[in-house]
Amino acid sequence: MKILIVSSSLNPDSKSRLLAQELEEHWKGADFEVAFLDLREANLPMCDGGAAFGDVRVIRVKAMVDEADGIVFASPVYVYNVNAAMKNFVEFAGHSMKDKTAGFLCSAGGRLSYMSPMTFANSLMLDFRMFVLPRFVYATAEDWDGDRLSEEIGERIDEFATGFADFTTRLIA
Ligand SMILES: Cc1cc2nc3c(=O)[nH]c(=O)nc-3n(C[C@H](O)[C@H](O)[C@H](O)COP(=O)(O)O)c2cc1C
Repeated sequence: MKILIVSSSLNPDSKSRLLAQELEEHWKGADFEVAFLDLREANLPMCDGGAAFGDVRVIRVKAMVDEADGIVFASPVYVYNVNAAMKNFVEFAGHSMKDKTAGFLCSAGGRLSYMSPMTFANSLMLDFRMFVLPRFVYATAEDWDGDRLSEEIGERIDEFATGFADFTTRLIA
């Protein structure tokens, strides 16, 4: 089994990237493979519905998705949704996500945007038949002391890590 963690924030001081790295750390030594894709480094073009699909950077990230059984989307909440970079990534690679599992790690400014990933999750379910783990990690500004996570969010990442690995294992069995 292989799980791909995708971090979509383009902010060098991203909190959602820290959540993604914490999850990757948690899975060190697990009996499955974990790959990490940072969209800040991938430098993808914008999806134009045409020529951009042939861009080498797009082909590279699509290959990473092809190899994965499950995908964890680590994103900032921007304007009550995932950020545009994550949407752009799915416009390119969504067809390689078919019938795979999906999970969410989100960083937001406040608690009121908790439902924000749902529009995006709906399109993953209905466009690509993905199976979405109904347990998100959602951290707000209050959950951080500098770059240190609160104990509560740390525990939630532990639960997510176990739940997502179990969910994906069962689905590919
Ligand atoms: C353009 C923009 C839109 C945002 N929209 C929301 C929002 O709708 N709800 C919210 O709770 N926080 C919002 N925020 C705050 C971010 O979610 C928060 O700063 C988060 O930590 C960003 O994730 P990152 O640190 O991984 O980049 C917004 C921030 C920006 C820059």
